[in-house]
Amino acid sequence: MINVGFIGTGGICAVHLNYLKTRKDVRIAALCDIHSNAVAKRQKEYGGLAFTDFRKMLNQVRLDAVWICTPPLVRKDPLLACADRNIPVFCEKPVEHDKSRGKAIATALARRKAKVQIGYVFRCLPIVNALRQAMKDDTIHLIHSFYGCNVSLTMGLPAWFYDKSKSGGALVDQATHNLDLLRFLFGEVRNIHGLAANPVHKKAGHYTIDETLGLLFRFRNGIIATHNHTWVGNGWRNEIVISGEKHIYRINLGNGSLIVDGPPSKKAKPATKTTLVPNASAADQVWFQHDGSSIYRYENEYFLRQVVSGNWSRNPSDYADGLKTLQLTLACDRAITQGKATVAS
Ligand SMILES: NC(=O)c1ccc[n+]([C@@H]2O[C@H](COP(=O)([O-])OP(=O)(O)OC[C@H]3O[C@@H](n4cnc5c(N)ncnc54)[C@H](O)[C@@H]3O)[C@@H](O)[C@H]2O)c1
Repeated sequence: MINVGFIGTGGICAVHLNYLKTRKDVRIAALCDIHSNAVAKRQKEYGGLAFTDFRKMLNQVRLDAVWICTPPLVRKDPLLACADRNIPVFCEKPVEHDKSRGKAIATALARRKAKVQIGYVFRCLPIVNALRQAMKDDTIHLIHSFYGCNVSLTMGLPAWFYDKSKSGGALVDQATHNLDLLRFLFGEVRNIHGLAANPVHKKAGHYTIDETLGLLFRFRNGIIATHNHTWVGNGWRNEIVISGEKHIYRINLGNGSLIVDGPPSKKAKPATKTTLVPNASAADQVWFQHDGSSIYRYENEYFLRQVVSGNWSRNPSDYADGLKTLQLTLACDRAITQGKATVAS
């Protein structure tokens, strides 16, 4: 039985717990949040011992793995406390929201040979693996990435998300997922140009985030890409269009579909929604469709495999790599405040 514990029992913790409770080999042993009502709510649904101090939890319960689901300002102490006890950690993204603090944590974790997987969820998706396979023999030149939601229209997130000094805003909290995926697929970025705007709520008081932003990148390998992001859009969408010499790849990370278009053909019929998995029947299109399970299932499966096997050689996202994505994300922030930025190699 794998005994698991959680530090931070707010919104995202439930998606991990919902998967973990389906696993017969996992026991939800302990939960911790500084707010006793937050931890009591989760304990009622998922069980385990409840704590308001993570050190007490780590000292009193023998845990095989811990999930850190706190805001990005609260990473160092729980990460090091787990590393000191040799407990593997699944840590939500971003790794930090300050680069120098992130670097200091990376050094401290490396010294302790800590086992940490960062929650860059897209890296573990089968649909992303299908995309990598599909692009193998192609040469990519241009990418357009878009991620949008309406959280600055609904104002439905906890207050700290709207305070850029705490969350980093749409960029550090959310766009970082797409930036990480682009790094994962296409390597490092060199130059960035950026713009941001607040078309709905002006920045005032603790509302200091950018509502819309546009980024233009040049990768070290020469690929040109854009990422556009909104928190004042019409619901959740996340779509990336990748242009290669042979095909156009359209990956929709919201509904989990991948369409690979070949050269235009007059005879081709469009694939229908009901004939997806994968479907080569349309002459110039191949479709893949995610099976409908939670996207968070795969990163958790991966993490548990590493915990059980003790083999971390293929960690999808270790802390040091997550730090590189943070560095790119923060360079994007410099680009939207200064017009342009360069990512240090
Ligand atoms: N991978 C994803 O798709 C995804 C989605 C949502 C959130 N996240 C990330 O997960 C993290 C948490 O987000 P959330 O939406 O759950 O936020 P949240 O505010 O709902 O939950 C965070 C919880 O951490 C608790 N906390 C703070 N300091 C603590 C401490 N020292 N010890 C124990 N608990 C503490 C808070 O009381 C709160 O309940 C963020 O980094 C966010 O970016 C990732």
